[in-house]
Amino acid sequence: MKLENIVPWGRSYREYTEMFSLSKEEIKSKKILGCGDGPSSFNTEAEYEDANVVSIDPLYAYSKKEIMQRIDEVAGEVMSQVRNNMDNFVWKNIPDVESLEHMRIEAMMEFLADYEDGKEEGRYIDASLPKLPFNNKTFDLALSSHFLFLYSEHLDEAFHKTAIDEMLRVANEVRIFPLLTLDNQRSPYVKNIIESLETEGYKAEIIQTAYEFQKGANEMLKITRV
Ligand SMILES: C[S@@+](CC[C@H](N)C(=O)[O-])C[C@H]1O[C@@H](n2cnc3c(N)ncnc32)[C@H](O)[C@@H]1O
Repeated sequence: MKLENIVPWGRSYREYTEMFSLSKEEIKSKKILGCGDGPSSFNTEAEYEDANVVSIDPLYAYSKKEIMQRIDEVAGEVMSQVRNNMDNFVWKNIPDVESLEHMRIEAMMEFLADYEDGKEEGRYIDASLPKLPFNNKTFDLALSSHFLFLYSEHLDEAFHKTAIDEMLRVANEVRIFPLLTLDNQRSPYVKNIIESLETEGYKAEIIQTAYEFQKGANEMLKITRV
């Protein structure tokens, strides 16, 4: 994927733990795959906790310098989009736009500081859904934060189902957050995908989360084998 088509913007480890209701014990004991982690600091900060996290993203085809430049290029645009759509967000835990910008930049700087070491250690791998370069059942848990369902306008239902099947091939459990699209509507694919997964013998549950920043985005989809 061309770098100019990627908007690198990343959340913090704390946000990931809240979005996916991940306990410290779970993070320490499970082998976790983050799909589309981009420049978030989830992998970086999980490493401080001695966790076992691997992240994949097409962004990781690029160098630290290239990613840093791209973050610089998009930061203004991303923040002005937030300013123009203030009502789409819940300004509670994050009180204002300045705090949001500070938090995100801090997370991305943490990621950048760890990126080259993490790449060498195989924690940041250049790969793209719907195809993952791992053997069956390599992970206990695969996560998608702000990729699947969010971009439902650009990625069709077949892409979503193939990507989720692939995540279920490499991991015993899958969690996806949020279930909303960019315009704060429940993705039109959620219902059909849950029905298909249940027909195939999986348990697919919508679980309320403590995290809500995009208004109404306070649910994750948890898929397990029955
Ligand atoms: C909105 S960002 C979310 C970043 C991070 N997960 C977070 O929540 O802060 C979406 C990410 O999806 C990545 N992405 C785009 N196409 C992808 C694909 N086919 N497979 C996996 N990740 C992809 C982008 O490079 C970007 O880093």
